[in-house]
Order: sequence, then C-alpha cells, then structure tokens
Amino acid sequence: MNKRPLILDCDPGIDDAIALFAAFQSPEFDLIAITTVAGNVGIEHTTRNALQLCEVAGVDVPVARGASQPLFRQAVFADHVHGKTGLRTLVLPAPTKQALPNAVEVIRQAILDHPHELEILAVGPLTNIAQVFLLDPTLPKLVKSITIMGGGHQHGNMTPAGEFNIVVDPEAARIVFEAGVPLHMVGLDVTMAEGLFPSEIDQYFSVSNLQTTTIHHILKDMVYAEGKQFKEAAYIHDAMALLYMLDPSILQGDWYHVDLETKSSISYGKTVVDYYHVTKKPKNVWVALGLDAAKYKANLKERLHRYQK
Ligand code: BDR
Ligand code: CA
Repeated sequence: MNKRPLILDCDPGIDDAIALFAAFQSPEFDLIAITTVAGNVGIEHTTRNALQLCEVAGVDVPVARGASQPLFRQAVFADHVHGKTGLRTLVLPAPTKQALPNAVEVIRQAILDHPHELEILAVGPLTNIAQVFLLDPTLPKLVKSITIMGGGHQHGNMTPAGEFNIVVDPEAARIVFEAGVPLHMVGLDVTMAEGLFPSEIDQYFSVSNLQTTTIHHILKDMVYAEGKQFKEAAYIHDAMALLYMLDPSILQGDWYHVDLETKSSISYGKTVVDYYHVTKKPKNVWVALGLDAAKYKANLKERLHRYQK
C-alpha cells in the first residue's frame, strides 16, 4: 500500500489529542511530522503535549514547534475548555525528546519532498500554514490537499459567528483559503452534530493499558469541558477531520465559494459559505454539512480499539 504523506498541524488540546491517537493507528498515512501552533494554549504547552502524547502512544514522529502568535493579532487561548496545560486534568511524564525548532521549515521541506502528494491536516489556527505560503507563494500548487477542522456554515463557538480556530487567526485563514489548494472544511455544523455520550465512554474499552486509560481519561474530561455548555457529550472535533480523510463517506458536503470575514468587530472569523452561489465566484472549499453519526462513531471506535492489545 502506498502511504499518503501527511503533516498534522495541531494545538493539543484534548480533542487534538484524540486526533493524534487515531492518526498513530492509521497506517494509511506516512505521518511525516506533527507541527504545533499556539491555539488552545500557548506554544510551550501545545508542543510539550504533542511530545508527551507521542511517548504515551509509543510512536517516534518528529514534533516541530510552530508559531507562538497569530500573524497580526494577540494570542487568544481556550484554556477554559482545555485547561491550563491544554490536557485538562491529564498529567503525563515530562517528555524525553525535544521538538524541532521550526515548524514552517519542516512543512516547507515536506511539500518539496512530496510534490503534489502531501496532504495537510490542520486542526488549530492556520498560522503555520499561512507562514509557509507567505514565505514561498509557489508552494501551494505543490500541496495535494488541506483538510481543516475549523469554521462552519451556520454558527460559531468562540463568537456567535466565528469558530475558535478561525477567530484566533482569521488573516492566516484567509491566506490559506485563498491559496488555491483543494481545501476541505470540517466545521462545527458536523463536529457539534454528534459526540460520545458519557454512557458510551464508560463502556469504551475492555482492555486497560497506558493508551486506553489515557484516552478514556481525556474523553471523560471532554464531556466535562464542552458538555457543560452543550448537550452532554464529548465533541471530538479534530478527530472527526482525520476520520473524514480516512473515510470521506462519514460526511456529506459539497464545494462552495467560501470567504472570510476579517474586519467586522462582531463577525470577524466567520467563514461565509456562498450556499446559493450568488457571487458566482470559484468554489474553493469543500464544506461538510452532514454527518453519518453511526459510521463516524464506529470508525472512531475501530481506530481507538487498535490500542487494545
Ligand atoms: C476547535 O477549537 C479547539 O478548541 C479545538 O481543539 C478544535 O480544534 C473547535 O472549535
Ligand atoms: Ca485543535
């Protein structure tokens, strides 16, 4: 099987952590590197968390430290959801390995090493990817596709209009959305459509080991974090984007012209989906609008159950 070269750009983050655990059990991908960005918490924490999660999973994937600030704005964190460290109440041993110092360079090199083949999964603010494209505007045409967890057609979670990953760095998002790379947007319309309920999480694993207990702990924490504001469940936004890459049939959607609001004080960070194609502008983004919840849950469980050995 030809493995699909992948860069996973993230800001772990409890749902990022589940995406990482699922990615580590995805031999379909050649995971070239995990690149970190400031988002849910600061860059020191997101990088440390990525290193720690690799060690818990027993995988040896390079982790590269990325942007500590959005392109033009002050950093905004989501520690009210992800806790001070980004992994809520989970405490892991200090990492034994160090991160590479320059995520932008790692992504740039991965694109050049895998022209027209590299896929990028970006589940945090899009600062690193925008910086790569700003550095060398010839690079986007060499990227096969970008899948993001971010945005949404109908509603926001950070503001009424904007989703967290986009609101944190809307200017970066604009650069990525306008880069001309086939872009798949897995946004809140689908990631908030279904979560794992506490009763499901309780029964999730039948084998107890370091990985399964860690995942179980995170899932339970997630219910607490977002389930307090919404219907009580663990909404695993970032893992859904990965699972879509592995099995696109879990989501329904279509190509639309999507623009980004960056100026308005009320709705900056909104991904404006031209649903009726009134602008007649090129359809630049595949937007996820529907979820096969049963299939999504079954696929997620199947991946995570691979740790039961
Ligand atoms: C997104 O924001 C972050 O808090 C999560 O990790 C996810 O990527 C959901 O809006
Ligand atoms: Ca994230």
